[in-house]
This record gives sequence, C-alpha cells and structure tokens, in this order.
Amino acid sequence: MRPVAQGERILSTDSHVIPTLPQDPAPGLPALHKAFEEAGDLGNGTLAPLAESLGVPLADLVSAATFYHYFSPDLADTDETAMCGGPVCSLTGAPREGEHAIACPGLCDHPPAQHRSGVFTASGAPKAHFEAPLPTPGERAIFPGDGFTSTETLDEYRKASGYEELLRLAHGGDLEAALETVAASGLVGRGGAAFPVGVKWRAVRDAAGDEKVVVCNADEGEPGTFKDRAILHLRPHLLLEAMAISGLLVGARTGVIYLRYEYPQAFEVLTEAIREAEKAGLLGASIDGTEFGFSIHIRRGAGSYVCGEETALLNSLEGKRPWPRERPPYPTTHGLWGLPTVINNVETLSTVPAILRNGADWYQALGLGESAGTKLYSLSGKVNRPGNYELPLGTTPRQLIFDYGGGLAEGRHIKAFTLGGISGGLLGEAELDMPLDYKAPQKLGAFLGSGGVVVLDDTCCVVDFARTCLAFYEDESCGKCFPCRIGTVRLREFLDATTGRAESTGVREADLKDISEAMAHLSACGLGQSAPMPLQALWTRFADEMEEHVNQHTCRAGVCSL
Ligand SMILES: Cc1cc2nc3c(=O)[nH]c(=O)nc-3n(C[C@H](O)[C@H](O)[C@H](O)COP(=O)(O)O)c2cc1C
Ligand code: SF4
Repeated sequence: MRPVAQGERILSTDSHVIPTLPQDPAPGLPALHKAFEEAGDLGNGTLAPLAESLGVPLADLVSAATFYHYFSPDLADTDETAMCGGPVCSLTGAPREGEHAIACPGLCDHPPAQHRSGVFTASGAPKAHFEAPLPTPGERAIFPGDGFTSTETLDEYRKASGYEELLRLAHGGDLEAALETVAASGLVGRGGAAFPVGVKWRAVRDAAGDEKVVVCNADEGEPGTFKDRAILHLRPHLLLEAMAISGLLVGARTGVIYLRYEYPQAFEVLTEAIREAEKAGLLGASIDGTEFGFSIHIRRGAGSYVCGEETALLNSLEGKRPWPRERPPYPTTHGLWGLPTVINNVETLSTVPAILRNGADWYQALGLGESAGTKLYSLSGKVNRPGNYELPLGTTPRQLIFDYGGGLAEGRHIKAFTLGGISGGLLGEAELDMPLDYKAPQKLGAFLGSGGVVVLDDTCCVVDFARTCLAFYEDESCGKCFPCRIGTVRLREFLDATTGRAESTGVREADLKDISEAMAHLSACGLGQSAPMPLQALWTRFADEMEEHVNQHTCRAGVCSL
C-alpha cells in the first residue's frame, strides 16, 4: 500500500492506495478565480505558473479552465448587459440567444434576468435573491413561520432553537438514534434523484477509512429551479448546522459548499455566517469544547450546469475538467479525493435539523399520501404569482398553479407545464391533478426532480419552448459521451427547422426518434438522458401542434416565423 499523492484520485474500488484530504480540500477553483481576476484571462501565460504552483500538468489546468462560462473574458469582464437566454426567460418574448446570452442564473421568478460584470439581476426585483418563499398554510420544515424577510443572523437562529440539535449530539447525544430518525423520516434527496438520505449517510458512515467529507450541492443550475437560492440567502445557519450534523453522524470533520457562480451574494452571506459560527464555537476545530470539530469551506463554481451532477462537481472541486465520472464506485465510498463523501442538495440538508427536533413521525405527517415532508416548489412562467412555495410533498400542479400561484392572466388558458425545472418532462392540462411527488410522475415517464414547475399558457409555443430547452442542453453538454454531445445538436437543429429558424437538415423524423431513444438510454449522465424529453413530449402530448409546425408550417401561438 502506498499513500495517495495530493490530488490523486482512486479510480476503482480495488485500488491499493490510501486517499487523504489535502489541507485545502479544493484549491483549484479559488486559484483559477484569483488568476482570472488578476490577469483578466486564463490563457497559457496565466495558467503555466499556476500549474507549476499547484503541481498539476498545464494541459490538465487548461482543460479545466476552458470548461466554464465565466472564465471567458467575453462574458465575465464585459460591461455589456447580457440577457438570460434560458427557457423561462425566453417566454417573455424577444429572443435572447446570441453571443453574450447567459445560461439561467436562477431568477426565473422575475424574468428576464440579466448579467453584467459578475452581478446578476432580476427584472423589477432588486432584492430577488433575498425573497422568502410565498405564504402557504400548514406546518413547514424549512421556512416555519413568516419572519424570513432578510438574512437570519446567528442570534435570530439560536433564538429559534438553532444549533440545539448539533450541540445535543456533539455533547454525547445518541448518534445511532439520530441516524435512525433521519432514515425513518423518509427524507429523500431534493436535488433530483430522490435517493434516501438515511441510506446514503449510513453508507458513508460504514465506508472504510478515517477521513470523510460532507459536500453540499449548491449549484442549482436547472432552469426553472431557484429554491436553494432562498435557503442560501435567508437561512445560512440552518444549512451550516445541518452540514455539521451530517459530519457528526457519518464521521466527517470537513464540509465543502459548492456554490454556483451566479449567487455572489450567497457567498458573502455564507462567509459571514461561517465566521459568526466559528466565533461562537459552533464550527471549527472543537465544537463547543467537545472532541468533535467541523470546518466548512465554500467553493464558487464558474458557470456550468453539468457541475451540479455530483461526480462532475467532485471533479470541479479537485480542479479537474468537470465532466461526470463513471459509476461505480459511488461518492459514498470514493468521493472527493477518493474519500467517502456525503453529497446532498441544500434543501435536503436543511431539512434535517427540523426532523431531529420534531421526530420522524412529525416529518412523515407533513406529506400527503405516502409522501413524507414538505417540498420547496419553484413556480415560474406564465403564472400570476411566481416564486417559491413550501408545501406538502404530493401537492398537485393544479393546487400549486391555481390555489397558491394565483392562476394565469385573465383570459389565458394553461397549455403545458414542466417538471424538474425543465428536465423532468413537459406535461399537459390532463396531468394537472397528478401529485407532485416522487412516484406519480414516474408512471407517465416524468420526474419531479428538483421541484421546479414552469407554466406555459396559450400565448406560448410548446415547439419553440422545446427548442430553447434543447439549445440549453446543447450549450451545457460536457461532450464526454457522444449520444449527448451529438444528439443535443441534431435535436436542436431539427427544432430550429421546425420553428422556422433554419433550413431543414434533412434528417428524417423517424431517425430523430431513434436518436432520442439512444440519448435517453445511452448517455452517461442525467443531462443527456433528460435532454430528449421536451421533444418526445411534442410527439406524444402535443402531437397536433407539432403536426401543424411540421406539415402545415403554422404556429397557432404566432411565436414561430413560419
Ligand atoms: C446535469 C445534472 C445537474 C444537476 N444539478 C444539480 C444541482 O444543481 N443541485 C443538486 O442538488 N443536484 C443536482 N443534480 C443531482 C446530483 O447529481 C445529485 O443527485 C444530488 O446532488 C444529490 O443530493 P440529494 O440526494 O440531496 O438530492 C444534478 C444532476 C444532473 C444529472
Ligand atoms: S450525458 Fe452529456 S453532460 Fe452527461 S457525461 Fe455525457 S456528454 Fe457529458
């Protein structure tokens, strides 16, 4: 056996090397950000000395640095205002794709979003990042009460019993019983895959090795999803306490928050919250004088949707080109630097303190039917009151859109709505009464995913919307596997032609159906697997409208120039 060198990654479960955590658990991204800020670009002249100081091959660093949107001087440094070209903002009208268009920055509730020199703003809502979820009746696990009008301070959090669960457990509380409570609560991951949290945490706790890591996935790049934004900006201590509890239960002393570039204010909020907590002895080498220590580091991404995929995220943290890893091995045994790693979404983690305080039965009872707990649903598109809503898991789209979201503008009719942001499927009016949980949508080949719902009314064109989704996937495909790399281009080209933006490429519709199938089954990660879903919905649920575009060259919504 030999100890692994700093930065070396274990590639298979039978490797005879012992992974270790570098003193700085993720030095690559901050080094790239600093170099970019100082030099204004990341050309070889900037990267060569950096590669030497980090002890990595220049080729590897170039390969990593060229991956991200915001390490491009064209986008990051420009004084020009760039508009969001994403599927939700595009529903507001004018086409916003072009040289400087940006990917969705998570402000879908106030479209169109804009970017200028590292600052992201929402139309008509200067404080959008700090907006609390909209009022809903009933008990809530993450935003109880209605007092969340600005960032919660440490004092405020502690007055509401904050850090009590961490302190109870750190001072000799029953860790096994706490893990059992998390498992019994039925909490499943809120980032998309709905994996049971208790199972994941137990796997990490039981994995071989003394060093383990907790990673919080705060990448939130899915168009139509902006729920983590509310927690990150308003309840930072809730997330920090949850990460420390996770560390205590699985045996980790290090936590890393992977924060999307597009939330710069959250970086400030979290940095200040960590400082406050460390000063109060609630984070750091020894929590409240106990033997348990837990430190949290924040690492900012640099603009890339696929970095939200958990293994791409790990590569990004390790300073590598952030494309997804092959699995198995899974992060629970071979995560950051090859160490057993918990990776959970912001919302998932932030649910845990309330579960421990109130018990598994309490949490179970918050959900509807067989579902456990509440869910933060992000509602956007053609609806009167877009925003985040914390509601019982299993609420229906009809309730979310009409009872809470205020319905549609007068005289308008619902045509379609998405699930999972955009990656969970494009559904129609007939599906308005299906529970938004982790089982019912699957019967229709759809997924709740991260819980974003985008509404399209009769002024929208579903074909054009699907085209914008495909353009997004094409831009964000990491290119590692060919079904996704080539398939996203072919499907987007077809939809370009169908919506009158380009000449037909001559690929037959039957072949495009085959390409879609191949993408869904053979792509290496969820991006390529989900990308064909909007087009597949046009062939099934919206066949009439598709037929009008393809054969009659008409767009009933008047959006496409046919
Ligand atoms: C393309 C892609 C993007 C993803 N983006 C995110 C993201 O931004 N945030 C997130 O929590 N999970 C995201 N996921 C899911 C993660 O891979 C992973 O399932 C999740 O972080 C696990 O945490 P959870 O169990 O708490 O949901 C993404 C998955 C894919 C395939
Ligand atoms: S499916 Fe797409 S994003 Fe995922 S690994 Fe393959 S090319 Fe990359």
